[in-house]
Amino acid sequence: MYNKQRSVHSFIRGLTRADYAEIQGYLSEIAENNDFNASLEKNRTGYGRNQFPGWGWGIGMTLGTVLYTLCRKVKPDVVIETGVASGVSSSYILCGLHENNNGVLYSIDLSWREGQSGWLVPDYLRYRWQLIMGRSSDKLPPLLGGLKTIDIFLHDSEHTYQNMLFEYQAAWTHLRPGGLLLSHNIDTNNAFPDFCESVGLKGHVLDNLGGLLKN
Ligand SMILES: C[S@@+](CC[C@H](N)C(=O)[O-])C[C@H]1O[C@@H](n2cnc3c(N)ncnc32)[C@H](O)[C@@H]1O
Repeated sequence: MYNKQRSVHSFIRGLTRADYAEIQGYLSEIAENNDFNASLEKNRTGYGRNQFPGWGWGIGMTLGTVLYTLCRKVKPDVVIETGVASGVSSSYILCGLHENNNGVLYSIDLSWREGQSGWLVPDYLRYRWQLIMGRSSDKLPPLLGGLKTIDIFLHDSEHTYQNMLFEYQAAWTHLRPGGLLLSHNIDTNNAFPDFCESVGLKGHVLDNLGGLLKN
């Protein structure tokens, strides 16, 4: 196994206790999903490249496949993410829910470009998606209050210490036992290690993606 592949397996195993074959099965599944990959490519080249020549790959394809695998393994009813932009993370999460034939993704985004959040997301996956426009500090508390319990939370919005800690604390209270708290860009500041210490748990790390399994 290449080092990168080993890190991916170890991160997913640490969070879900899935074995090698199961993880590899889900990673192969998304790599070989022609409908999904063709839809992303169509939106990326036809829409993204023409309208947003400078856009980046959001959370990136490798971490996208990790999100997909986590969703396939955990089989969540409710996923929340903050920070959509073009919608790379949203697309991979929604694809996992679609393959599970279960679950809803709630995404909160402070309009990245007016009316354009999530332009990369394939149309055929949008039926499991609720996109909420606004600041996470305003939108997350009422969303969590209404849902009561969530299975997976992903932070990828404003990477300030204060906002990251606020989101982790808010989501953690509503996360079910066995649920996952995930955060992109944990290398921006100490919010993730400080939060792990505050709840007395060891965080798992893959590049700049952090993950915590709630006991
Ligand atoms: C790094 S991008 C998200 C990338 C996305 N997860 C992906 O994989 O494509 C950050 C997004 O968070 C949004 N954002 C910034 N501050 C925010 C806040 N306080 N609340 C909600 N969204 C915010 C930005 O408008 C932007 O769309």
